[in-house]
Amino acid sequence: MVTHVIYGGDYNPEQWTPEVWEEDARLMQEAGVNRVSLGIFAWVKMEPAPGQYDFTWLDQVIDLLHAHGVQVNLATPTASPPPWLIRLHPEILPVTADGVTLWHGSRRHYCPHSRAYREYASRLVTALAEHYQNHPAISLWHIDNEYSCHENGCFCDASVEAFRQWLQKRHGTLENLNKAWGTAFWSQTYTDWQEIQAPKRTPAFINPSQKLDWERFCSDSWIDCFEDQKVILRRTTPNIPITTNFMNFHRSLDYWKLAAAENIVSLDCYPDTSLPDWRVESGMGWDMMRSLGGGRPWLLMEQAPTHVNWRQRNTTKRPGIMRLGSYQALAHGSDGIMFFQWRASVAGAEKFHSAMLPHVGTDSRVWREITSLGGELQKLDEVLSSRVQAETAILFDWENWWALEGQAKVSNDIRLLPQVKAIYTELFQRNISVDFAHPESDLSRYRLVIAPHVYLVSERSAKNIDQYVAQGGTLLMTFFSGIVDDNDHVRAGHMPVPFSNLLGLWIEEFVAYAEAQTNVVEAANGQGYPCELWSDIIRLTGAEVLGHYREDYFAGSPAITRHRYGKGTSYYLGTELARDGLAWLLDQACAEAGVRPVLEAPPGVEVTSRSNGTHTWLFVLNHSDVEAWVKLPAPATDLISGSRVESLMQLGARQVAILRLS
Ligand code: GLA
Repeated sequence: MVTHVIYGGDYNPEQWTPEVWEEDARLMQEAGVNRVSLGIFAWVKMEPAPGQYDFTWLDQVIDLLHAHGVQVNLATPTASPPPWLIRLHPEILPVTADGVTLWHGSRRHYCPHSRAYREYASRLVTALAEHYQNHPAISLWHIDNEYSCHENGCFCDASVEAFRQWLQKRHGTLENLNKAWGTAFWSQTYTDWQEIQAPKRTPAFINPSQKLDWERFCSDSWIDCFEDQKVILRRTTPNIPITTNFMNFHRSLDYWKLAAAENIVSLDCYPDTSLPDWRVESGMGWDMMRSLGGGRPWLLMEQAPTHVNWRQRNTTKRPGIMRLGSYQALAHGSDGIMFFQWRASVAGAEKFHSAMLPHVGTDSRVWREITSLGGELQKLDEVLSSRVQAETAILFDWENWWALEGQAKVSNDIRLLPQVKAIYTELFQRNISVDFAHPESDLSRYRLVIAPHVYLVSERSAKNIDQYVAQGGTLLMTFFSGIVDDNDHVRAGHMPVPFSNLLGLWIEEFVAYAEAQTNVVEAANGQGYPCELWSDIIRLTGAEVLGHYREDYFAGSPAITRHRYGKGTSYYLGTELARDGLAWLLDQACAEAGVRPVLEAPPGVEVTSRSNGTHTWLFVLNHSDVEAWVKLPAPATDLISGSRVESLMQLGARQVAILRLS
């Protein structure tokens, strides 16, 4: 349980001398820093030679930090195996689908299936945990760093063998595997487990079920690596919580599964703030993190104080933007604000990445903004542990993402994230709080559930969604949903087979549009809304039409429908609507479901709320460049300024208010 809003960043003392450590500790105190993540890439410093552990330097750093009121997220430094380990065990290096070995000299150069890697990592983690088990400065274990960042599965021999074993567990017999992979197609039937390969480079499309199992396997392998370490840490330090840092909507790792294994979800978030919708993208990531943790507070583990160094042009966060983005994380349920990194490096691949303490030192805009935020956060302890409540959920499932974006579809331009983002954007702009939910999870607390491109559905999720509506929920489903089962086999018949009753329709034909092709949906409100990409040709079996196509051989046929089912209502969208059309449809669905904004506010003003049962706080963020007037539901106290605010509040451009409602 944290008692102060967490504030700090990644700290890499191994890059500096003890004199600099002293200065760091002093400046951290000045900036209001109360937490650092330590040791993330310090394997070689902790274990300079095989089995020779040296924590003396780290003892000194941790004691110093502790004396300055700074707690530690202690990292297991397993994301960057040292060169001596690669010399002893070159088989640790990962291999791509083309058979190319990825070398050291960078980071994350390890195969998750390498026995040598796993053994060395486990021994080091054991030594580290035993050494620090009683140190009062250790508040959180930070396992590894950004699992599966940079690499997309290892294709070495050990990985192929591990894949075969994983498949044996999943399918039991070769007969089942052949069935699940549909191997009658193109003479792919396996007669021995040894014949099975990873989806390496092939002449033509790879078997999609094989590919899907591979994605599951790769994701599970990273989780196994995490579990190896977690077991050791749990055994040695049962009371210290555990996390590993996530990367927003990262495709190759099933974060639902990994989040279930950690105590607190943490996120590294690097929006490109030169883009107008950065705040929407950030908000979407924040809401996903909160949802992954079942609504519990999460932690912003890394963000850039100003620029990164890995884009083509690394623009600065303009004055006030870092602060605004930081408060946005709190507004969406984080209990802390951390950065990459504390002090700017002078050597290495990240020497031009921004830091809380820049190369130029403390006489700088960045440092002033950092210290000022650190001071402000000290006034916000009362919001800790409070929660955001959402009445709307967007369904999101990694397995669906993998299957949907596999090869050889009717249209290969159906992409999950753009669709999710288009929907999320509309809700965000209305100040409607959104959770993400797994399709198999309990949906009963939501008034509105949105199911964008839920292409792959298990029997369980199909039943779950059906029941949700039957019992009174409102659902909005978009096209290319309910198409395949969890082996990526088509559910043939009146599509979408699992949802056709619930939607009161079936789809006779899919129409993929050519690139420049468009159409118009004539909506029930008399408006014509442009659409593109796709049309389902819908046959009605009970649904009513809310919009139909204006053009083409299917002109006049339904594009948007609504159906009363059980005690609930389902909407279906059979095409890709441009913004206005989507906005109109979402308004219908929200009105039907009784979903309301947290607060009506002028454009560009974001409002969220957190509550702890006793108090409710409104987070009001003016993202616009002009001052705004916001009407509050009741008088309130602004925690940052300490002043009382009556029911009409003035908020300057890029300013923030955190209001405890009376
Ligand atoms: C990631 C990593 C950090 C650092 C930053 C740079 O989030 O976890 O180690 O490389 O990116 O933006």
